[in-house]
Amino acid sequence: MWRRIVCSIGNLFKMGAKASKCKSPEGRSFPFLEDKSTIEVMKETRTFFILRGLPGSGKSSVAKKIVERYPSISVMASADHWKISPLPKESETDSSRYDKLDQQIKQCLGDKQIVVVDDTHHTRERLDYLFDLAKEKDYIVFIVDLRPANNDLDSLAKSNRNYTVQQLKLMEPELQKNIIPYYFGWFLARQDAEKMRTNAMDFLDEIWKNETFVEEFVKYAKSDSKENFNLKEYFQKKPSVLHCTTKFCDYGAVPNCESYAGSKIVGDSLSRCFVLKVSALFITPRTLGARVELDEDQQLLWPKDEEAVGSGDQVNLPHSSRSHITLACAPGEHAVQTGLDLLDILKAEKSEAQPHPQVRMEQGQCCCLGEGRWIMNLSNSIKVKTLFSGFYAIKKSTAE
Ligand code: A2P
Repeated sequence: MWRRIVCSIGNLFKMGAKASKCKSPEGRSFPFLEDKSTIEVMKETRTFFILRGLPGSGKSSVAKKIVERYPSISVMASADHWKISPLPKESETDSSRYDKLDQQIKQCLGDKQIVVVDDTHHTRERLDYLFDLAKEKDYIVFIVDLRPANNDLDSLAKSNRNYTVQQLKLMEPELQKNIIPYYFGWFLARQDAEKMRTNAMDFLDEIWKNETFVEEFVKYAKSDSKENFNLKEYFQKKPSVLHCTTKFCDYGAVPNCESYAGSKIVGDSLSRCFVLKVSALFITPRTLGARVELDEDQQLLWPKDEEAVGSGDQVNLPHSSRSHITLACAPGEHAVQTGLDLLDILKAEKSEAQPHPQVRMEQGQCCCLGEGRWIMNLSNSIKVKTLFSGFYAIKKSTAE
C-alpha cells in the first residue's frame, strides 16, 4: 500500500481537544507535530505542506495543528477560505478560480518559513503548479495524504453534507494515485547547508594555495585556459537546496522506485529529521562533494536494490558507500556524477599499492589519488541536520 504521510479520518475524529496526536492507520504520529528533534529542525527550514484528501477528510484539522505548533513562522492558505470548490462550476475556468489563493500562497512564500496549503489537491496539474512555486523559493515539500478509513465514502458524504458520494467518487481515483518524486533524500536545514557551503569554499581556498594540488589538478581540469584557471569559478554550478539523495526515481521511471516509495521505512521517515555525518570533502575535475557516512537507522533508507557497489571490480565497497552531498559541479557535469566520483575515489583509496601524496590541511588530511582526484578526510566530522522528503517539481532543464 502506498504510504506517504498518511492519516486516516477515523483516527482524526477520535482526537479530543487535548489530544494533539494525529495517528496514521499504523499508529504513527506525524513527526512535525510530535517529534521534538523534527520540530526543532522545522524551525530552521523552509517547508511547504501540501495537504491532500477528499472534502471532510480532516485536512483542515491537521493544517490548524501545524499552524498552532509553529506560531508566527507558519501560515495556512485554504481553498475553503476563498470559497474554491474542488469541482469547478461550468462557468469557472480552472486557472482563474485559484487566483486569490495563489496570490496568498505567493505572498507567504518567502515571508513565512512554513506554508500549509489546505485543498483537495486531486489534480496533477494543480500539484505540479504548487511544486514549481515551492521550488522557486527553495521550500522543501511535504505531501500529507489524508485518507478515509476503509475508503468509506458513504460515511464521508454523510458527515460532510456539501458533497454526494458521486462527487467524492469523481475526485477519489486521482487521490489514490502515487506521487513519485524526482528523487527521495535528506534535505539540509538552511543553516547547516550554509555551514556546508562555507566549509566547501574554505576547502577550495586552502587547497588552491597548495602547489602540489594546483599542479596536479589543473592538468586534468576541463579548461581551455590553464594559466588563468580559477578553482572557484570552475565550480560555479551549485544545487539550490543541498541534499543527500537516497533513491533517484525520475517520477516513477526508475525500476523498483514504486516499492521503495511505498515501503514502511520511507512512509515512517517522510518529514522526519535526521542528523547526517559528513566525514570527508572530495574534489575531482568534474565535481565537488561531501562524503556522508550513514548510521544503522539511516542505512535502512538506502535502497536495497542498489547495484552492488564495486561488483565486477576487484574492490568491493560497503553498501551505501555512495551516500554524498553534491556541493558543486564543473561546467557540463550533472550532479549524479558526484556519487560516481566518490565511489571511484573510495575504490582508488583501497586498491592502489603506491602511497598517495598527502597534504595536511586545517580540517584534515588531504590525499591525492591521481587524475585530479583528491579527498580530505575530516579530523572532526561535520554533523548536518536534515529532513527526509522528496523533490517533486518537474525538471525543465538539465541544470539545477
Ligand atoms: P546527487 O547530487 O545526490 O548525485 P539533476 O540536477 O542532474 O537532474 O539531478 C538532481 C538530483 O538527482 C541530483 O542532485 C542527483 O543527486 C540526483 N540524480 C540525478 N540523476 C541521478 C541518477 N541517474 N542516479 C542517482 N541520482 C541521480
